Amino acid sequence: MHIMIKTEHLTKEYGGQKAVDDLDLQVDLGATFGFLGPNGAGKTTTIRILTTLTRPTSGRAWINGFDVVSESSEVKGEFGIVQQHLSLNRELTVRENLDLHARLHHLDRAERRERIDELLDYVDLLEYADHLIDRISGGMKRRVMIARALIHRPRLLILDEPTVGLDAQTRRRIWDLIRRMNSDGTTVFLTTHYIEEAEALCDRVGIIHQGHIISLGSPLELRRHLGLTTVELRSEGNNTEYRYFPDRTTAAKYVQTLPSSAENIVMRESNLEDVFVELTGRRVCE
Ligand SMILES: Nc1ncnc2c1ncn2[C@@H]1O[C@H](COP(=O)(O)OP(=O)(O)OP(=O)(O)O)[C@@H](O)[C@H]1O
Ligand SMILES: [Mg+2]
Repeated sequence: MHIMIKTEHLTKEYGGQKAVDDLDLQVDLGATFGFLGPNGAGKTTTIRILTTLTRPTSGRAWINGFDVVSESSEVKGEFGIVQQHLSLNRELTVRENLDLHARLHHLDRAERRERIDELLDYVDLLEYADHLIDRISGGMKRRVMIARALIHRPRLLILDEPTVGLDAQTRRRIWDLIRRMNSDGTTVFLTTHYIEEAEALCDRVGIIHQGHIISLGSPLELRRHLGLTTVELRSEGNNTEYRYFPDRTTAAKYVQTLPSSAENIVMRESNLEDVFVELTGRRVCE
C-alpha cells in the first residue's frame, strides 16, 4: 500500500505546552482522511508541520516519502493547501488571484490561462472569473481557494476546516467538490470539528483531543467499537444518560427492563459525536 502521509511520535510544543503530542498517523494514497477534534485540539498545528510552515519539536513526518524537515522543497510540490482562514487578495479578481499563485509555481503564460480556465470550470466559477474577491460570497471564496490549491496538480489536497462558516447548502456543494477531487485521484486530508462532515466525507477518521489521537478508524469501526445503538434516558432535571449497545435488539431488551414510569427514552443509531463524548467526556463544539 502506498502511503501519502506518515507521522511518527510527532510533537510540537509552544512554551512547554504540547499542541501536538506524540502523534502517529498514516494516510494511504487515495484516501479521504478526516482529522476531527474541538477548538485547540492541534489540528492546524499538525497541518502547519506537514506543510513545512513550522518544524516539529520532536518526531518526524513524511509526505509521499519526503521528510517535511530535511526535504521540504520536495514536500512543497506534493500538496495543495486550503487554509482555515481566507487568504485571498481581496483587491484582486478571482482570475488574478489564481494567476498570482500560478506564477509562483512557474507556469508560463499560456499554461496559466489554460489551467485557470480549467480549474474555474471545475469549481463552477468561470462566469465569476473577473469579479473582485470582495464581491463574491463566502462559498465562492472557498471554491477559489480550492482551485488555487490545485493549480500545480498536487496529489494531496489538505483542507483545514473547509466549510466553517458556510450555510448548509453551500457546505454540501463543497462536499461534492471534495468527493469529486478524491474520485479523480487526489488524496484528501481534512480537518473539521463538524461530526457530520467527517461522517459524510471520510473513509477514515482520527479523533484528536489535546494533541493526541484518541481513536482512529472508519466511521463505522469507531461507532461499532462504542456500540451501534444508543439509548438516551432523560431524567426530570434534564440530565441525559447515554447507554450503548451492539444492536437494536439488545438495546430494546434493556429498554424493556426499565420501570414503566421511565419517560423520555430515545433509541437511535450511535454517531461519531457519541464516540467523541465517551472518549473525552465533552461535546466536540463546546
Ligand atoms: N504559534 C503558536 N504559539 C503558541 N501557541 C500556539 C500557537 N499555535 C497554536 N498554539 C496553541 O496550540 C494549541 C493547538 O492549536 P491549533 O490551532 O493547532 O488547534 P486547532 O485544532 O486547529 O483548533 P481550531 O479548531 O480552533 O482551529 C492551542 O492551545 C493553541 O493555543
Ligand atoms: Mg485550526
